[in-house]
Amino acid sequence: MQPGKLSGKVALVTGATSGIGEATALALAAEGAHVAIAARRVRRLNDLAERIRQAGGEALPIETDVADEAQASEMVGRVLRECGRLDLLLNVAGVGVAAPFQNTTTAEYRQMVDVNILGVLYPIHAALPAMKRQGDGHIVIVSSGTGRYIHPSTVYSGTKHAISAIAESLRREIGKDWIRVTCIEPGAVKTEFTSRMREDVRKSVEQRLGDMEQLESEDIAAAILYAVTQPRRININILTLYPTQQA
Ligand SMILES: NC(=O)c1ccc[n+]([C@@H]2O[C@H](COP(=O)([O-])OP(=O)(O)OC[C@H]3O[C@@H](n4cnc5c(N)ncnc54)[C@H](OP(=O)(O)O)[C@@H]3O)[C@@H](O)[C@H]2O)c1
Repeated sequence: MQPGKLSGKVALVTGATSGIGEATALALAAEGAHVAIAARRVRRLNDLAERIRQAGGEALPIETDVADEAQASEMVGRVLRECGRLDLLLNVAGVGVAAPFQNTTTAEYRQMVDVNILGVLYPIHAALPAMKRQGDGHIVIVSSGTGRYIHPSTVYSGTKHAISAIAESLRREIGKDWIRVTCIEPGAVKTEFTSRMREDVRKSVEQRLGDMEQLESEDIAAAILYAVTQPRRININILTLYPTQQA
């Protein structure tokens, strides 16, 4: 493979088994990064690793539930042990029940808080000491447009507002150590995201979106690639990308 813009870099992508995470892993690998890929579905992780290798790239699949602190910590530990460093941490894993508060169960609140907030904080906590030692690093957090504006998805929106706020505070805290933080806030993207929701919620989301042309996962991966290939002096703070027709 020809050297790319990320040759020599080690990246860790959570939520790599579908949608935005998968597209991001492929985009980073195509630019030469050694990509560690993490999520819970092992077969999909292994398939993706194989596709990356067949294209001439390097991949390390790591089965991980990011909402489990010990697993999140071990995921980062494995990357450091097996790849020697960690340059890019891409927190893509997320779950959502895009429903009003009164149509969301307490188990669903808990899962969204666990994955969308704690599942981002644990990997960052584990990665920061190594990035500080390296004097270099970049953390990307995939939040959502619903983390900036209000859409009818009360708890999901709340978790994404929290993580967008955390991203900006963290950026201000660790930029002096040459660690960059970028928050990505997409509108509707065509992935498996809605298909994981309860049937009534999925139907109401599909009805709301209608036949609007949604973004593709590759559109978000390209935005992430843009942010992580800037010169070191530039921190892309926030990228908000919506389908042109989405209000
Ligand atoms: N699609 C949209 O319209 C949209 C819009 C704005 C923001 N987003 C955000 O974009 C991110 C990616 O979503 P997507 O649209 O690409 O959806 P997706 O296709 O459903 O992908 C979600 C990914 O997260 C992983 N994941 C879920 N829970 C996990 C856990 N506990 N531990 C580890 N991995 C976990 C899933 O893998 P496993 O099931 O294999 O673990 C999967 O790889 C999410 O943070 C989402 O909130 C999506």
